[in-house]
Amino acid sequence: MRKPVVMVTGANGEIGQRLIERLSGDAETDIIALDLHPMSAALASRCVATFVGDILDDNLLQRIVSEYAIHTVFHLAALLSTRAEYTPFAAHRVNVGGTLKLLNLAADQARRDGTPVKFVFPSSIAIYGLPDLATKHAAGRVREGDFNAPTTMYGCNKLYCEHLGRYYMHHFGQLNSNFRPSGVDFRAIRFPGLISAVTVPSGGTSDFGPEMVHMAASGQSYACFVPEAAQIPFMAMPDGVEALLALAAAPRAQLGQETYNITAFSMSAAGFRDRVVDAFPGAQVTFEVHHARSRIIDTWPLDVDDTPARNDWGWQPKYDADATFDDYLLPTLMALTHR
Ligand code: NAD
Ligand code: SER
Repeated sequence: MRKPVVMVTGANGEIGQRLIERLSGDAETDIIALDLHPMSAALASRCVATFVGDILDDNLLQRIVSEYAIHTVFHLAALLSTRAEYTPFAAHRVNVGGTLKLLNLAADQARRDGTPVKFVFPSSIAIYGLPDLATKHAAGRVREGDFNAPTTMYGCNKLYCEHLGRYYMHHFGQLNSNFRPSGVDFRAIRFPGLISAVTVPSGGTSDFGPEMVHMAASGQSYACFVPEAAQIPFMAMPDGVEALLALAAAPRAQLGQETYNITAFSMSAAGFRDRVVDAFPGAQVTFEVHHARSRIIDTWPLDVDDTPARNDWGWQPKYDADATFDDYLLPTLMALTHR
């Protein structure tokens, strides 16, 4: 008999590692994890199986579904925005092609087991494309349907995958005479920039915030690649992980839409600098603007309206800006440094 499991792709990434730690606290949940890179022994021990490989590998996916009955997919594997911009074709292959394969896998599982398969997808504020800074500042908190004109390959990939998820849930196979919905129960969150106290991001464009914090904590100087005024929404990693779990757990009937904005606080690069210098006296932060990366940040919103998430599934961040620094980042970084 195939074992019922939750599948996490991109399991070795910043979110994946923390999600697996949190999910594995529930004795009822068996996890299988897939990533291009091997996980640490400690993390792997929290899973019933780990697979090192590519989400684009059909043979690997076939092997997995022959052994496991997947009832929930957290599909995290992706190339992030800066990396995707340098390697747009690879990004499209992984971010779109990989998501299509996983959606198909979920539809297959739902058909085979006769029950819906939850598909939880991390989208991004990168799906927004504000045309200029004046519009960005005038727009303030954007709603899900606003400014859906991304200027990056990553943003285009994420926006299209939101549509693919909606399509798989409602319309996949619609011309079959015996058409029934695929059973893919698609749920997406548009994350702001996430900040982990445990890992340093790479390949993203929101990385300037978390990079600044980590460099200061390790006593290294940091040259910030966006100007002081550059501002987007952010969130502490524990809130991001709780959001994925809360959206996955919400009764389908309560969800009025497939894709939800969420946020915790907005902060400028200067805001990060001020907090970092306050927390780590002597921290060296300079601004050496990379104009092309900075232009990407200019197209992402100042803030997002997350009212539908609050109303439909009770989204509420635990960490505002003060709590992110005082109750999460600084104590965790101190504990890690003194270990
Ligand atoms: P990450 O880069 O830390 O992790 C991504 C993981 O995916 C890596 O471990 C990588 O090895 C794996 N991966 C990449 N290509 C793969 C492939 N072809 N096959 C198998 N594994 C592959 O990123 P993260 O911060 O953990 O983000 C996870 C997801 O959340 C991504 O989809 C990202 O777009 C989304 N997201 C992240 C943020 C953020 O600020 N971190 C914000 C919005 C959305
Ligand atoms: N934080 C991600 C990035 O910068 C956005 O999804 O790529």
